Amino acid sequence: MALFRKSKNSEPDFSQIVLPSHIGIIMDGNGRWAKKRGLPRKAGHTAGAKTFRKITRYCSDIGIKYLTVYAFSTENWKRPSDEVNSLMNLFKSYLEEALEDFKDDSIVVRFIGDKSKFSDGLRSLMLENEESSKDRDGMVLNIAMNYGSRDEIVSAVRNISADVKNNIISIQDINENLISNYLYTSGQPDPDLIIRPSGEYRISNFLLWQSAYTEFVIMNKLWPDFEKSDLDEALKIYSSRNRRYGGV
Ligand code: FPP
Repeated sequence: MALFRKSKNSEPDFSQIVLPSHIGIIMDGNGRWAKKRGLPRKAGHTAGAKTFRKITRYCSDIGIKYLTVYAFSTENWKRPSDEVNSLMNLFKSYLEEALEDFKDDSIVVRFIGDKSKFSDGLRSLMLENEESSKDRDGMVLNIAMNYGSRDEIVSAVRNISADVKNNIISIQDINENLISNYLYTSGQPDPDLIIRPSGEYRISNFLLWQSAYTEFVIMNKLWPDFEKSDLDEALKIYSSRNRRYGGV
């Protein structure tokens, strides 16, 4: 089903809808996708990585300014070591390619989360990616790895307390804006839209502070099956929402 009127070059025409500036995606359903096909879970993650590339490019092409994807949570270390290892290998091979990837789209790559838990090799690849893309002027892509929103808030509280103790700020300076500026997403707008494929109605410790007024769209598609047209549909749903931010 065509969700948007097609323009001449057959790309969807977004002129009739309000585009979100910042989209968050919980890339869920890789394991179920693999199970349905009798494949090991890691095959689901590999397929999920392909979807991630495709949807990231598409978001950049249609003019989204910020995209935050949930790739690995602080809780995901509890998975069987075989699955964790295959995810780490996938991240490593992806990050090696990513040094070149997304260059043409001018995408700025950032990692949000506690990097200290990753291997030296993975950590230096993350830093290399951030460093080499930081001066680009396209979409900002936040890849959440070893990310947990509660952990992020705990670390913000610690850093704020240290700055109060060292007289860098005073207690009176602490307000919502200041707290936002101590989070990994400092300086970025809050997400307007969070999409969760795979039909689960959970936030799973993702952008808790930042999503105070975010619109949620839950989709009944497993992440590896997620298509550009599914993103179009989520955008259409978002565009039809009446955002009141607590007003009337
Ligand atoms: C959740 O699905 C998905 C993950 C924990 C991993 C997400 C990782 C990718 C999509 C790989 C690509 C990322 C990058 C940055 C290369 P699940 O395993 O919980 O699925 P299930 O709920 O069906 O078991």
